[in-house]
Amino acid sequence: MHNGTFSCRGCSSPQGRGILSLGDMPLANALLTAEDLDRSAEEKRYPLDLFFCEACCLVQIGEAVPPEELFTDYAYFSSQSSTMVTHAERLVEQLVHERQLGSGNLALEVASNDGYLLQHYVRRGVPVLGIDPAANVVALAEEKGVQTICDFFGDRVSKELVETGRKADVLHANNVLAHVPNLDEVVRSIARVLSTSSVAIIETPYVVEMIEKLEFDTIYHEHVFYYSLSAFARILRRNGLEAVDVERIPMHGGSLRVFAQRIATGGVHERVRGLLEEEERLGVCRFDYYADFARRVTDVQVDIRQTVEGLRAQGKRVAAYGAAAKGSILLNSIGLGRESIDFVVDSTPYKQGRYMPGVHIPIVPPEHLVQEMPDFTLILAWNFAGEIVAKEEDYRRRGGRFIVPIPNLTVLSGDPSLA
Ligand code: TMP
Ligand code: ZN
Repeated sequence: MHNGTFSCRGCSSPQGRGILSLGDMPLANALLTAEDLDRSAEEKRYPLDLFFCEACCLVQIGEAVPPEELFTDYAYFSSQSSTMVTHAERLVEQLVHERQLGSGNLALEVASNDGYLLQHYVRRGVPVLGIDPAANVVALAEEKGVQTICDFFGDRVSKELVETGRKADVLHANNVLAHVPNLDEVVRSIARVLSTSSVAIIETPYVVEMIEKLEFDTIYHEHVFYYSLSAFARILRRNGLEAVDVERIPMHGGSLRVFAQRIATGGVHERVRGLLEEEERLGVCRFDYYADFARRVTDVQVDIRQTVEGLRAQGKRVAAYGAAAKGSILLNSIGLGRESIDFVVDSTPYKQGRYMPGVHIPIVPPEHLVQEMPDFTLILAWNFAGEIVAKEEDYRRRGGRFIVPIPNLTVLSGDPSLA
């Protein structure tokens, strides 16, 4: 079922075992323009296979896409979600307070996107520096007063920072370590720009949540690694860092927030040992833990397809909400196209007027929901279901009903006063 040979991107071991194959999938973020649609025969698909490395316990996808095909045009804008901006603000507030940060400190963020996080330091008078390779999001960050280097963070940039005396007192890396195939270079570079009293706060989706809640649509080509703390601790350690504290946070279907410092420079909170012990009990470093994932995913996929097709058979109109990468994978892997879903709404101006990869469903502004009043709306950005449902009260009041596909397929009632 899996194509090609495996070589772990973390430890180079050839001992990978296949967890799940989603088949040939388009790049989840490669939204198409109307002109692209005419050339859709050229739309590329690549095998999407998830592996478990038996040597270092790191879950990852198989190598299939030439790197230059990824990250061409960056369509992800963190500030589109108020959940995300508020989440960032709380964290910044806590760190500024606990670490007494002020004008003499530096807050650095790797993959700083549109400045959704660093802007909160700027407002509190703490100097910041963002690093992000995508010019379109960097321009938005600069508008917020967030100074940003437009580049990939790695050996070259980190050495330059150290040489110019810019070490970080706090460093954030949110939702980026899952995306960097050159993992060790990035972690080593993080270590390089920290001094002994600095802390790095690293957030990344948690593999345990993905497995337990069947979040199969979070698997896509740009998303290379799926971390457990057990696997992540090894990566930190071999790059001179250690996890000194850890929290489980609800972001993106369930993430880990790891606080890392240079080895032996800070006390290690007992939460770290606690979570490592829990993972040991679950068996996240044994293949058995992942063995029935593929079968369970097939069951959810069938359930989603039958629900949507059943509604169509009754003459109901169905739309979708959130042109997220995970939405591309959900629709393509289940085979839900234009015959089933009329349109996808999304608040990101960049995405509006484009089409979902592979299935070619048009993306339109959120106002379409109330204008068109589809009977049912499948929330593809299910990680923001609460925020979306609250925002679209009008749609529900008029009888529109939301379907949340993950973690359990749930059809919400049309009445906003009932859950
Ligand atoms: P993500 O799950 O990859 O973060 O993507 C979420 C997508 O959903 C993103 O394209 C923005 C979109 N979105 C809306 O259109 N409205 C909303 O209220 C929220 C929270 C997200
Ligand atoms: Zn490995």
